[in-house]
Amino acid sequence: MKALVLGAGGQLGSELVRLVGPESAVRHTEVSITDAGAVEELVKSRKPDVVFNCAAYNAVDRAESEKEAAIAINAEGPRIVAAACRRNDAWFVHFSTNFVLDGAGAEPYAESDVPAPLSVYGSSKLAGEENALQEGTHVLVVRTAAVFGRATGRSFPERIVERARAGEKLRVVSDQTVNPTYARDLAAAAVDLAGQRFAGVVHGVADGCAAWDEFARAALAESGYPAEVESITTDAFPTPARRPPPAASLEGRRRRLGEKPLKKARAGRFLDTGSELGCGG
Ligand SMILES: NC(=O)c1ccc[n+]([C@@H]2O[C@H](COP(=O)([O-])OP(=O)(O)OC[C@H]3O[C@@H](n4cnc5c(N)ncnc54)[C@H](OP(=O)(O)O)[C@@H]3O)[C@@H](O)[C@H]2O)c1
Repeated sequence: MKALVLGAGGQLGSELVRLVGPESAVRHTEVSITDAGAVEELVKSRKPDVVFNCAAYNAVDRAESEKEAAIAINAEGPRIVAAACRRNDAWFVHFSTNFVLDGAGAEPYAESDVPAPLSVYGSSKLAGEENALQEGTHVLVVRTAAVFGRATGRSFPERIVERARAGEKLRVVSDQTVNPTYARDLAAAAVDLAGQRFAGVVHGVADGCAAWDEFARAALAESGYPAEVESITTDAFPTPARRPPPAASLEGRRRRLGEKPLKKARAGRFLDTGSELGCGG
């Protein structure tokens, strides 16, 4: 598969590059997905079979006050890349989030659930999905959640361990449940789906779910660093952006089509060790 990976320096992008080869990597410093001319030139000259777009504005809370930046990157960027792929006969794999959903319906979320984002970030990602899909039938949108890898050194488990080492008091919410998804496993699933020319929206998260405080405790246990985690509720930790309520899990098409589930997340899997996280899922 001749591929390009946009956002190659991020958690997911770096894992995709590991799978599809270093020549696929396109970093933010090389091309911004908001630059239509540069994106067109890139896709035209490199002639990939598949373009993976991992570039995103992911600062969920900051997006509430930086709406324009979030929209430019998360909503307009995917349209620009999808259009360049259409014109140059490339498949397009884009990534989105459980934050396009409000969590009000029956769980787990399915692709058929009607999106209803609660935040600027969620709205910008939903607009990105729609804009990309409108460009044609060559588009796959993989919705994921709570991605963690080790490219940036800033993933949730790494930050928890870092904060514990710095002697910070750890207070982590216990009433938001997610499917922590290891970037390496998600990258492998995305390559597989691209190879099969999957199109439309598909949910891609790891098996097994955990509340954030459980995820934090598991990360500390795996790191061998003993620290207390105080469980708090979302009400006690107000944030600018609203998050979907508990059990924001995603489930769906991949499973129904008999695809292998992504492995249960291991908090220590950024170290490739550790016990599985799970709440029976
Ligand atoms: N992380 C999560 O928990 C999570 C959850 C659900 C969905 N997702 C989605 O999964 C995808 C991958 O996320 P991730 O965790 O791998 O993100 P990440 O680690 O934050 O990486 C994003 C990458 O995009 C680059 N970037 C930002 N703006 C760009 C632009 N205008 N043009 C080109 N590159 C740009 C960033 O470069 P700089 O750092 O140099 O700006 C960074 O390398 C995203 O679509 C994200 O929305 C992530």
